[in-house]
Amino acid sequence: MTTQGPAMTAETMPDISVDVRQTFGIDVDMSVPAFDQPNEHVPNIDDTYRFDRDTTLAILAGFAHNRRVMIQGYHGTGKSTHIEQVAARLNWPCIRVNLDSHISRIDLVGKDAIVIRDDKQVTEFREGILPWALQTPTALVFDEYDAGRPDVMFVIQRVLEVEGKMTLLDQNRVIRPHPAFRLFATSNTVGLGDTSGLYHGTQQINQGQMDRWNIVSTLNYLPHDQETDIVLAKVPAYDTEEGRKMIDAMPLVSIFTAPLEAV
Ligand SMILES: Nc1ncnc2c1ncn2[C@@H]1O[C@H](COP(=O)(O)OP(=O)(O)OP(=O)(O)O)[C@@H](O)[C@H]1O
Ligand SMILES: [Mg+2]
Repeated sequence: MTTQGPAMTAETMPDISVDVRQTFGIDVDMSVPAFDQPNEHVPNIDDTYRFDRDTTLAILAGFAHNRRVMIQGYHGTGKSTHIEQVAARLNWPCIRVNLDSHISRIDLVGKDAIVIRDDKQVTEFREGILPWALQTPTALVFDEYDAGRPDVMFVIQRVLEVEGKMTLLDQNRVIRPHPAFRLFATSNTVGLGDTSGLYHGTQQINQGQMDRWNIVSTLNYLPHDQETDIVLAKVPAYDTEEGRKMIDAMPLVSIFTAPLEAV
């Protein structure tokens, strides 16, 4: 995380624009809104990160046009970090929530908590991560989206629309999304559950829920040469003729972990 930076308020909006060709090395005439200053929720930049064209354009469309974007693909292909690294370069606050089976509706929505005020114990509603993020210029990323519990998925369904307001029933309060709030998800399956046995614990995703994602983009393992380039960017000491040969001869992650058709 970067240093504290300016506080986020309801008025905080992107104030600069970033050239995609210059910042992401992708050959398109496009600029996207961004923030001039980072705050504590903006991820750190990984200078060695290599942006995949289609995945990056899908994520940029999400940021620029307020579209709900899901990135699907095999494990370890760079789904979560692509979103994070795009956010890092736009100085856009970004929070990742792993929807593993321990996350419940209450964690997302909030709950009553006992607090001490003026030396008295009072009950106060503490907002969960979803209402908090909705009211701020934050990109919220639901990781392992296909592992989420049904009670959690129905809460998320309500905010998937761009205007998706959220009603806090026990609070009698309706929350309108901040205009710079963004929602992303990553998942290993495309919502049909898993027949390969690779992703035990994933669920089928309700079709009404799947259809609400505006863009579903697939990111699988990169071709061998690109993987080699990523490794070399991370360990430049190996960027010699001999080092390249060695890394080139290594079966990289995709060979070990992907089903045959993906290699
Ligand atoms: N294009 C890339 N450039 C540089 N590093 C990358 C790239 N893609 C992935 N990595 C690195 O590979 C690792 C795995 O990436 P990440 O966690 O984003 O994968 P994932 O697709 O979200 O995996 P999972 O499905 O298990 O959540 C990270 O350490 C990340 O930095
Ligand atoms: Mg991930």
